[in-house]
Amino acid sequence: MYSQLQCMDCGQQYPIDTVIYNCRACGGLLDVQHDLNTLRKTVTRDTFDQRLGTLEAPYNSGVWRYKELVYPDLDRSRIVSRPEGNTNLYRSPKLGQWAGVENLYLKHEGENPTGSFKDRGMTGGVTQANVLGMKRVACASTGNTSASLAAYATFGDLEGIVFFQDKHVALGKLAQAVAYGATCIQIAADFDRNLELVREVASRLGIYVLNSINPFRLEGQKTIIFELIQQLRWQVPDWIVCPGGNLGNSSSFGKALCELHQLGLIDRMPRLAIIQAEGANPLYRGYQRGFTEFEPVRAHTVATAIKIGNPVNYAKAVRTVRWTNGVVEEVSDQEIMDAKALIDRNGIGCEPASACSLAGTRKLVQTGVIKPHETIVGILTGHILKDPDATIAYHDGTLADIKAAYPNNLHRAEPSAEAISQILASEPLTET
Ligand code: F0G
Repeated sequence: MYSQLQCMDCGQQYPIDTVIYNCRACGGLLDVQHDLNTLRKTVTRDTFDQRLGTLEAPYNSGVWRYKELVYPDLDRSRIVSRPEGNTNLYRSPKLGQWAGVENLYLKHEGENPTGSFKDRGMTGGVTQANVLGMKRVACASTGNTSASLAAYATFGDLEGIVFFQDKHVALGKLAQAVAYGATCIQIAADFDRNLELVREVASRLGIYVLNSINPFRLEGQKTIIFELIQQLRWQVPDWIVCPGGNLGNSSSFGKALCELHQLGLIDRMPRLAIIQAEGANPLYRGYQRGFTEFEPVRAHTVATAIKIGNPVNYAKAVRTVRWTNGVVEEVSDQEIMDAKALIDRNGIGCEPASACSLAGTRKLVQTGVIKPHETIVGILTGHILKDPDATIAYHDGTLADIKAAYPNNLHRAEPSAEAISQILASEPLTET
């Protein structure tokens, strides 16, 4: 066997087919630990380069292209894949200039099948549900995980169950979960409480939990890193910048980078910058205190995807910051929405939480942490269509406490060529 489950704190190991989310001995978070010594002998950059562009499953997926580093022992007939990944890496000189760096790339994870990076983890988690013979899968979600779970569950002939907060869930995400046929439960509790509830209910009823506490989710999410480094022809950027909510994604990035380094597939570690919303910033607060203590917060932010005050992967994210000599920054809702408006206006587009990557890069340049000549890859985590309400409210000036720096006002005209011509004649030329 190449892999087993291993507690990140006490090292206790469990067979890979154990249904377990925390260490039975100490309560610590679990990793899927691969036998890197054996893999080192067989896995090279060529292994993955030869699969680029293939039409054959499972290697046509941007997750399963890296099967040896995701789930080497897996019988491929068990894989549930849409297929995901293969997302674009955009070089964006204009947005780079705004942020203050020469080389800015944005990797758009909103280009996944259900419109967010969650699909990479979900193919891992639903595949493991299949391996384990589970019939029902569930998650609590701020929206994207539920959309992804709903799609992958039904695609893999499983029953999907999602727990939502009864407000503040972006319309696009809610619509997806309903449409894909999951059992959708709206609960008068925030994400953090819903995550406790889903775990309690799942253990009572024998349902498999697919939140990012599930380590197979994180194995899939690692492939964002594998793919972006492969897209850069195995050259490592100086910084990778991503939003942080429940901290699954950033945790998986740390593990991915360590594994690539230990396997000799990259020659140095990039630094990771995790960006939180000011109103949902427990990791940032911990970072400010040298991670000596952890204190959950009551979360508030316009970026509802990351409205999380008690992130389940906190300890793994701290480990990632240490492994990558990383930093944690916070940005305001104003900064998030203005950065989003520019990403949108440049034709790339994203949902609010994703814009933390650009807003955070700019702030870290301003504070001198990121240097202008360094190469940055920002991760855009979700599609522009996920949260149309926030987008429209920003542009028409009705978003509470936010004054749009880059509004695109909707015009209204009488149905006459005269009226329309007047609007077009007075329209100023925009530079951005
Ligand atoms: N960006 C988007 C668009 C998200 O949906 C999320 C998380 C994040 C960033 C943060 O990622 O949790 O791994 O730190 N959304 C989860 C959900 C919580 O339920 O969809 P993280």
